[in-house]
Amino acid sequence: MRSSLLVPLSSALLILAAGCGGSDEKGSSSQGNTDPADSWVEPAPATDTNPDPTIVEVDLEAREAEKSFLEGKTTAVLAYNGTVPGPLIEANVGDTLIVHFKNSLPEETTIHWHGIRLPNNMDGAPAVQQPIAAGDTFTYQFTLRDAGFYWFHPHVMEEEQIRKGLFGVIRVRGQDEPQADDEKIVVLNDVLLKEDGSFDDEVDDDLIMLGREGNVLLVNGRTMPTLELEPGALTRLRIVNVANGRFFNLALPGHTFRVIGTDGGLIPKPYDAERLLVAPGERYDVLLIGQGEPGEEIVLTNEAYARGHDTGEAAPMPLATVRIGAGPALSGRTLPDSGPAIERLPGGAADTTITFDERFFQGELKFLVDGNAYPDVPPINVENGSTHVFDLKNDAEMDHPFHLHGFFFQVLARDGVAVADDALANKDTLILPQLSTTTVVARFDEPGDWMYHCHILEHAERGMMGEIVVSP
Ligand code: C2O
Ligand code: CU
Ligand code: CU
Repeated sequence: MRSSLLVPLSSALLILAAGCGGSDEKGSSSQGNTDPADSWVEPAPATDTNPDPTIVEVDLEAREAEKSFLEGKTTAVLAYNGTVPGPLIEANVGDTLIVHFKNSLPEETTIHWHGIRLPNNMDGAPAVQQPIAAGDTFTYQFTLRDAGFYWFHPHVMEEEQIRKGLFGVIRVRGQDEPQADDEKIVVLNDVLLKEDGSFDDEVDDDLIMLGREGNVLLVNGRTMPTLELEPGALTRLRIVNVANGRFFNLALPGHTFRVIGTDGGLIPKPYDAERLLVAPGERYDVLLIGQGEPGEEIVLTNEAYARGHDTGEAAPMPLATVRIGAGPALSGRTLPDSGPAIERLPGGAADTTITFDERFFQGELKFLVDGNAYPDVPPINVENGSTHVFDLKNDAEMDHPFHLHGFFFQVLARDGVAVADDALANKDTLILPQLSTTTVVARFDEPGDWMYHCHILEHAERGMMGEIVVSP
């Protein structure tokens, strides 16, 4: 029974949201009108104004806007080019991206290009860019060095600006893209809404501890959209989690996710996953083979995941309806067993240990790096061109998704046990499981001041952030 998935989380709103968006298909069709809330809608591509095929030049404006997450209700959001999610930027590897940005918000902002290797002064982090004042403009320009799926978002007041709608995605295609019959973008998010549809801005210790989790789950800004999968056909999903605090743990009954890529692009050794865990900031590139009878409907769910502090007991939550199409079946394409090679960075003993923890500190919940709260975290200095091994030690009783700006890193070991050779991947965001140590290696080949932080934004803004300074 599909409705058995609709076990209340803590709020009736979640049920309301899921119900209006089409998880109750009979209910919505009996209203007699075609409900566009059910349809699958992707972020609209930003217009490339430059005729040169190797230059992608787009206009981007951050401004206040309105969006309807719940049927018949509007939410005052912050949006890039008026939409949530913001526009899709499409490019090929090697292209130059030029973004003419206008800040029409009533407050300052910046744009950070999450996962993209770029010059330090284009990174949008407060350590390297004076915030763009209300009404001001700024031009971002850099080369897209790596094929993959990236996203962009503010890096001032990000806890608030991102959850209110400021995020967009970038798809950079490479020369060796895997064959698929269809490709979809999946932006995972949640919003915490009051009954009148407005954002609930409440802050309490629970919301801070786990990061803000919403009561309405969204895929591409919609509740319960319907994804069509053709039987036997290969569908590629580019997935990103833009939520402040929620981890998504995806499951689709009768289907297996073939993971072909992650944050930094395709991986050499694809693998299968029954559940796909996506932490805030992470991306996964997966292939699915549609399985089932034409017309059959299956629910893509977010399964419970124990990330600490008594999480893990929640019932599965519906995210999207998957409808098996009428065919034509079997494109003849098969799941790839291998992907492009990635240069393996050298391992070795840790050069630096970074310890993450959380504690009450003078009556306030603080998230700490080596016992300090940013900006009181001493920067780590590394030589330009060097590779550097880190032990990332999570002393907290919850998982923290670690994110590094400007560089990819590779996982070498978990709690001292080397990871399998075929698990090679370029990551920029990685779950550090509670009470464990993860060893990673990065090569620093771009000088400047680069941030690292927990991508639970409530934690980043309460101290769990630091800087790596790469010498000129
Ligand atoms: Cu996506 Cu510093 O962040
Ligand atoms: Cu980033
Ligand atoms: Cu955290």
